[in-house]
Amino acid sequence: MTPDIETGNDLIDSEHTQIFDAVNELLDACSSGHGRDKIAHTAEFLAGYVGKHFSDEEALQRKCQYPNMEKHLKFHVKYKKDVADFVDKMKKDGATVQTLGELNALAGLLINHIRQEDKRLAAYIRENS
Ligand SMILES: [Fe+2]
Repeated sequence: MTPDIETGNDLIDSEHTQIFDAVNELLDACSSGHGRDKIAHTAEFLAGYVGKHFSDEEALQRKCQYPNMEKHLKFHVKYKKDVADFVDKMKKDGATVQTLGELNALAGLLINHIRQEDKRLAAYIRENS
């Protein structure tokens, strides 16, 4: 975890680390020529973990009555759908140039979200608890 994506909230940061570990595991599974089953399994784990993480973040937001919750949740909903679509495609097509490009794009989107929205959320939790 590089400092620019550290929010300072232990739970959020540790879950982000797990997500990026899962992304790297999936990239490894693809590049080392693992079978489609392993790739599908790893992609599904990633999707499940993203869902768990977003639920945890949303619970934190409800607890502190986070004012920016609506906008933040909108991103979560859209991102979960994008990940689910990606997993379907991965299961169907396996590791292709296109699916790998999409995985990198999804990771980049999440990094942007963390840099802006999750950092803002973590700061709010710090100041209001
Ligand atoms: Fe978030």
